[in-house]
Amino acid sequence: MNEIRALIVELVTEQLVQLKVKADRSEVEKALGRPPTPDLGDYALGCFVWAKTLRRSPASIAADLAGRLSERLGEYPLLREIAAVGPYLNIRLDSAQVARLVVERCLSGGLIERQPGQGKTVVIDFSSPNVAKPFGIGHLRSTVIGAAIGRIYRELGYQVVGINHLGDWGTQFGKLMAAWLSWGDEETFREQPIAHLYELYVRFHREEEADPGLTQVARDWFKRLEDGDRQARDLWRRFREASLAEFERIYRRMGVRFEHVWGEAFYEDQIGPTVERIRKAGILEESEGAMVVRVEEYYPDTSPCLILRADGASLYTTRDIAAVLDRWERFHFDRMLYVTGADQADHFRKVFGVLKRLQLPFADRCEHVPFGRIHGISTRKGTLVFLEDVFDRARELSLELMRDREMTDPEREVEAERIGVGAVVFFDLSKERIKDSSFNWEAILQITGRTGPGLQYTQVRLKSLQARYLERFGELPAPEVVRWDLLREPELMGLVRDLGEYEQVVFRAAQSYEPAILSRYLLDLADGFNTFYSSGQRIVSEDAPLSAARVTLCRALLAVLLSGMRLLGVPAPDRM
Ligand code: ARG
Repeated sequence: MNEIRALIVELVTEQLVQLKVKADRSEVEKALGRPPTPDLGDYALGCFVWAKTLRRSPASIAADLAGRLSERLGEYPLLREIAAVGPYLNIRLDSAQVARLVVERCLSGGLIERQPGQGKTVVIDFSSPNVAKPFGIGHLRSTVIGAAIGRIYRELGYQVVGINHLGDWGTQFGKLMAAWLSWGDEETFREQPIAHLYELYVRFHREEEADPGLTQVARDWFKRLEDGDRQARDLWRRFREASLAEFERIYRRMGVRFEHVWGEAFYEDQIGPTVERIRKAGILEESEGAMVVRVEEYYPDTSPCLILRADGASLYTTRDIAAVLDRWERFHFDRMLYVTGADQADHFRKVFGVLKRLQLPFADRCEHVPFGRIHGISTRKGTLVFLEDVFDRARELSLELMRDREMTDPEREVEAERIGVGAVVFFDLSKERIKDSSFNWEAILQITGRTGPGLQYTQVRLKSLQARYLERFGELPAPEVVRWDLLREPELMGLVRDLGEYEQVVFRAAQSYEPAILSRYLLDLADGFNTFYSSGQRIVSEDAPLSAARVTLCRALLAVLLSGMRLLGVPAPDRM
């Protein structure tokens, strides 16, 4: 509906100029709102700002504008009535024309027309699980949110570079090697590599308490790894590949891909030059044997950023600094987003603080996109959650829900997977990302609720209404011949208005890196339709012109739902 607003702004600005005010569009834009009640019209323009310059009351300006604009209504079929009410100019649209405009737009495939991202690059660092550790809920959130933000930006014309910054380097690999060589078991590793490696890692920590000598063994192994020792490198590669293979299975289930899987190790040979650069800039200081950079000038309550440990080893922070320098060289990004938990805020303040102290022009283009925690997902062992178990459980519960539906077993399997994955993904995206939330199996799978399956069910319903129309009338009506004046119910008019806002909603979701804005919009759309439908109204009836109007609106709704679900990464089952 942007162009309707734009049209009104244009017309009003033109008239104001004739009244001899130097009004600019942005003033009109600001003054144009919605009237308090819909019976007053679709838009209301308060005429206060121009009163002073014109030395006239706002009411007389409104009356003047109403008179001049009413004369031109004939030229603009979209506008039905323009009237002054006190200081306001109220504008009513022709709802049939609006419906035509909005629905044709939805069906033409041009849901998102503006492409503000042309020529711009956004790098998104997301998912980024750790090798030899389970892919947990935090990584699920990062994956789901990061992938959604990436799709949304791509839709707006940005070049998006998704990077999986695997945790595949660091002193913990020394521990893992030491542990593997003492207690590792080939067969268990083959069956469940991550679970086994993680077990070894936990055991190492336990035994290290009793035998501090192990600490040195681990250090030596990490040193060998850093020095390129053959045995150490081979082991590292095996651990990494086995972990990646498990991660890949999850990505495939979620339909997520990356432009690059560049883990921390990828930047290993850039650590030296990075530290040198920091040293040359004169900001590297010694502190208790370690090398640090102070950042409190930019982030007052943040302690110094560690660059090198006392033993000379690099850290998570150092590797992030090397990584962003590398990414800048390669992509000259307009934005660099880090999608990780809110508990890493301090880490990113340190990293960004160093960039600022280096006076790098792109420091302000880097942003941490944090998210809260999800509580209450059941676990396999102790406090750890294995994501695959979560998806498996979701699929099983969905299978259960569809037990008595008429379909073949393989069909049922496919749809249950879509519903299960969709339920988990949508749950994650339906809450404001920064908030903590709690997970509840029953709630996320409710078909009648504000859930992924609820949305999925709505689109299945819309598809089957379309099929029913086809059965009765043979072919779908061309939108040009639809009689839009037959859509009279306020619920349907409301739907039209909401459909017209899709593009705007996607923009807002992009701007605030908040997929929940899109999720909630889709839920509201679905609610609007379902309320109408369950009030006993029929979409397909004997009344051919009415059915044609309603089913065409349903097609537009379906197009928007499918587009939004695709952006979020929620699959669309064909049957439920
Ligand atoms: N591997 C890290 C973790 O699991 C997340 C990495 C996030 N990305 C980054 N560039 N630091 O906590």
